[in-house]
Amino acid sequence: MDRNPRKGPTVAATTPGPAVKRLVVLVSGSGTNLQALLDEIERAGAESYGARIVAVGADRTGIEGLARAERAGLPTFVCRVKDFATREEWDAALAGAVAAHEPDLVVSAGFMKIVGKEFLARFGGRFVNTHPALLPSFPGAHGVRDALAYGAKVTGCTVHFVDDGVDTGPIIAQGVVEVRDEDDESALHERIKDVERRLLAEVVGRLARNGYRIEGRKVVIQ
Ligand code: GAR
Repeated sequence: MDRNPRKGPTVAATTPGPAVKRLVVLVSGSGTNLQALLDEIERAGAESYGARIVAVGADRTGIEGLARAERAGLPTFVCRVKDFATREEWDAALAGAVAAHEPDLVVSAGFMKIVGKEFLARFGGRFVNTHPALLPSFPGAHGVRDALAYGAKVTGCTVHFVDDGVDTGPIIAQGVVEVRDEDDESALHERIKDVERRLLAEVVGRLARNGYRIEGRKVVIQ
């Protein structure tokens, strides 16, 4: 994997303004980060928060993340890789399902799939992911386990834009969590998620309200 800083064009992704931005959230599991977004939007009000969730998508059925969306009265959709002949077809279907809700920003909140070219062509520069480690350390599906196994003394979470690598896109914000001697993966992940939920809700609101630009690897929230 290329971990060198990448240079890229400046992408003006969203602009500030009074409009309430439209969010599509993608989940694969318990959806507590989705819940944090829902709770914060409810607490602040969509106008003050700057965004509202218009739909929730998943790559599997029967998950608490979808149940949370349904309880909140939101439309949901499911795109399972196994229902498509190729990964490319799945990616195009996912991109189409998301696009149908006309989002300004797409949030991967524990969505455990790597999207492909078509999805990035449509949503690159406005697709936000949250990862349970301090990137560029410990990318991939086991960020918490890998940090623990490495013997890291601090870890945390990273909210970043998604590019065509695995957890390599421009970093928006990070939160730090100390590793304790007695930690196992589950205890450490729970403490990371406490920080992560607050960070994600705060960052998505700021992106939506203020607008931002991506200059190479640097994200500037206006
Ligand atoms: C979160 O900790 C998120 O960072 C992680 O899955 C968890 C989802 O929790 N994502 C990844 O590991 C992606 N590589 P949630 O379903 O309770 O929001």
